[in-house]
Amino acid sequence: TIDVRYANSQPVTGKLTQSAIFLVMTLKAGAEHDAAVKGLCADLSSLLRAVGFRAQEGCLSCIMGFGSEAWDRLFGKPRPAELHPFREIRGVHHAVSTPGDLLFHIRANRMDQCFEMASAIMDRIGGAATVVDEVHGFKYFDERDLLGFVDGTENPVDQAAVDATIIGDEDPGFAGGCYVITQKYLHDMQAWNALPVEYQEGVIGRKKLSDIELPEHAKQRYAHNVLTNIEENGQQLQIVRANMPFGEIGKGEFGTYFIGYARSPTRIERMLENMFVGLPPGNYDRLLDVSRAVTGSLFFIPAAAFLDDVSD
Ligand code: HEM
Repeated sequence: TIDVRYANSQPVTGKLTQSAIFLVMTLKAGAEHDAAVKGLCADLSSLLRAVGFRAQEGCLSCIMGFGSEAWDRLFGKPRPAELHPFREIRGVHHAVSTPGDLLFHIRANRMDQCFEMASAIMDRIGGAATVVDEVHGFKYFDERDLLGFVDGTENPVDQAAVDATIIGDEDPGFAGGCYVITQKYLHDMQAWNALPVEYQEGVIGRKKLSDIELPEHAKQRYAHNVLTNIEENGQQLQIVRANMPFGEIGKGEFGTYFIGYARSPTRIERMLENMFVGLPPGNYDRLLDVSRAVTGSLFFIPAAAFLDDVSD
C-alpha cells in the first residue's frame, strides 16, 4: 500500500543508482528577490521531465533542499519545526559545519543524465547562487565504499523507509517533508590499507568480503553499526542513507559522500554524537581515524507539491 504522504514527497527513499551529483550552493545577496531561485523551485519537475524522458532507463531523480537561513530568506514563516543550521561537533574528532543554502541530490544510472540535469539547474538559477561544493559520485562494484565495505545494507526499505523519513502528524504544516544531513568525507587510504582486515571488520561490524554482520559477541563496542544503532522507547530510530564514493586519483583523493535522510534531524545528530564524541564519551567510531569530514550541512526537503506551488 502506498502511503498518501509518500505520493506527495520528493523521492528521498529512492534506490541507489550508478551515478549521482551532489550540488551545494549558497545564495547571493538579494537572491530572495531574484525570480530565478523561486522560478527554479516551480520548474524543477518540468526540467526533470525534459531531461528524464530522453533516457527513461536512466531513472533520473532530483531532490531539492533548503538550509535554515535560506528558508527564512526565501519563504519566511511558517518554517519547518526542526530546521536549524548544522551544528559542529568537537569530540575526539571534528564534524565541521560549512555553508549551504541549497542542496541538489541528482541521481541516475547514467552520469551524462546527472550532468545534463545539473547544467539545466545552473542555467535556470543564473547568477543568483554560487556552487560551493560539487561531488560526482559513482557506484563502486557491489555497492562498496572506497574502504572496500558494502555500504547501505541495513537501510530500511518500502514502508519502513517511508516511516523513517517522511514527516507526518508531528509537523502537520510540513507533512510529506523530510530532513537531510550531508557530509563529505576524505579517507586516508594508506593508513586504512595498512590495518589488518580483521581490525577493519571490527571497525565496521561486518565481514569485508561477504558483508555478513558480525555476531553480537564478536562485535567491538566502538563498531560503526553499534554506535549508529540508536533506539527510543525500545524502537530503533532509522534513517535512509544514499552514500556514494567519489575521488580524484591525481589529487590522491578518496571519498565517501554521506547523505542521510530522516523525518527528524535529531536522530542523525545522535548518531553523529556517538561517532564523534563516543558512547560513552571516548568510545568513538574508529572509521573517523581514517576519514575526515570536510563539509557538514543540514537541509529541509519540502514535499514535492510545495515546490510546484512556489510563486515568484
Ligand atoms: C552502516 C560506511 C558515515 C550511519 C554502515 C555500513 C558501512 C558504512 C560500510 C555497513 C553496511 C550498512 O548497513 O550500510 C560508512 C562510511 C561513512 C559512514 C564509509 C563515512 C565515512 C555514517 C554517518 C552516519 C552513518 C555519518 C550517521 C550519522 C549508518 C547507519 C548504519 C550504517 C545508521 C546502519 C547500522 C545498522 O543498523 O546496522 N555505514 N558510514 N554512517 N551507517 Fe555508515
